[in-house]
Amino acid sequence: MYKILKAKKLAEKIFLMDVEAPRVARSCQPGEFVIVKMDEKGERIPLTICDYDREKGTVTIVFQIVGASTRRMAGLNEGDAFQDFVGPLGQASEFVKEDPTEVKGRRYLFVAGGVGTAPVYPQVKWMKEHGIAVDVIVGAKNKELLILEDEMREAAGNLYVTTDDGSYGRKGMVTEVIRDLIQNQGIRYDICVAIGPMIMMKFVCLLTKELGLKTIVSMNPIMVDGTGMCGACRLSVGGEVKFACVDGPEFDGHLVNFDEAMKRQQIYRTEEGRAMLKAQEGDTHHGGCGQCG
Ligand code: NAD
Ligand code: FES
Repeated sequence: MYKILKAKKLAEKIFLMDVEAPRVARSCQPGEFVIVKMDEKGERIPLTICDYDREKGTVTIVFQIVGASTRRMAGLNEGDAFQDFVGPLGQASEFVKEDPTEVKGRRYLFVAGGVGTAPVYPQVKWMKEHGIAVDVIVGAKNKELLILEDEMREAAGNLYVTTDDGSYGRKGMVTEVIRDLIQNQGIRYDICVAIGPMIMMKFVCLLTKELGLKTIVSMNPIMVDGTGMCGACRLSVGGEVKFACVDGPEFDGHLVNFDEAMKRQQIYRTEEGRAMLKAQEGDTHHGGCGQCG
C-alpha cells in the first residue's frame, strides 16, 4: 500500500497529495507519470508527477475532479493509502537526457495552463537545480484557479501570470503573453515547452509555428494500461502512429495532430465509439484493453 502523507485542496476541484512511494521517488524524472489505483475495484488513473523527494521517498501528485474516480480520490485523507502506485512510466523530458552544458546554452520558455502547471513545475525546478533560469508563463481561468504560484515563482527566472478574466496578473490567454514576449519585447527563445489542456497546446503550437519556435507538448489522452498494449492513448505525430504512454507523453507539438486527438478523446468515451475506433484503426489499435467490443 502507498500511504498518503499529505492531502491538500489547491483550488476548486484541484487537489495535491504527497504519497509515500520510495521506489518511484528514487527513479522518477521530470516528464514521467504514474498510474494510481485506489483499491481492487478502482479505475487506473494516470497522473503526471508534480514533484518528488528522493530522501523522504515521496512523490507529489496533483489532480482535478473530472469523473467518479477522481471525485472518490478527492475524498481520501492523510493516512489513507492507494493500493497501486505504478511508475515512473513514459519517457523523461528530452533535456534530462542531454548534456547540461548544452541545455544551459538554450533559452527556454515554459507555458503552463491550468492543471498543466503541475507537470511543468518539476521541469522548471530541474532547470533551477542545474543553474538554468527559465521564463515561465502560467495561465488560469481566474485567480481562484491559479495553482502552485509560490513554488513556480521560487523556481522560475521570470514568471508571467495571466488570467482569462483579468482577476490576477495580466488579462488574457497564455498565447497573448507569448506573442508579447517574442514580438513586442523581442526575446529570442530556442525552445518552448507547453503543457495544459489540448486546446491550449494546439493554439500555442499554431502560434509558435508561425513564430518559428520549436515547441514540446505533453499529451494526456485517455490511458488504460499505460504500457503500450491497449491502444487507448493512440495519437498521430508527424503522420505516424504513437502511443502517449510509451512513446511520450512529450512530443514535438508542431507534428501532433491535435484535432484528431481531441476528436478521439470524445469518441473513446462510449462503447460504440471504442468499437468504431477498433474497426477504423485495425492492428495499430492493439485492442488489449478488453474494452473495445
Ligand atoms: P483551463 O481551461 O483553465 O485553461 C488554462 C489556460 O490555458 C487558460 O487560462 C488559457 O491561458 C489557456 N488556454 C485555454 N484555452 C486556450 C486557447 N483556446 N487558446 C490559448 N490559450 C488557451 O485549463 P484546465 O481547466 O486546468 O484544464 C484542464 C485540462 O487540462 C483537462 O482536460 C486535463 O486533462 C488537462 N491537463 C493536461 C495535462 C497535460 O499533461 N497536458 C496535465 C494536467 C491536465
Ligand atoms: Fe497507452 Fe494503453 S494507455 S497503449
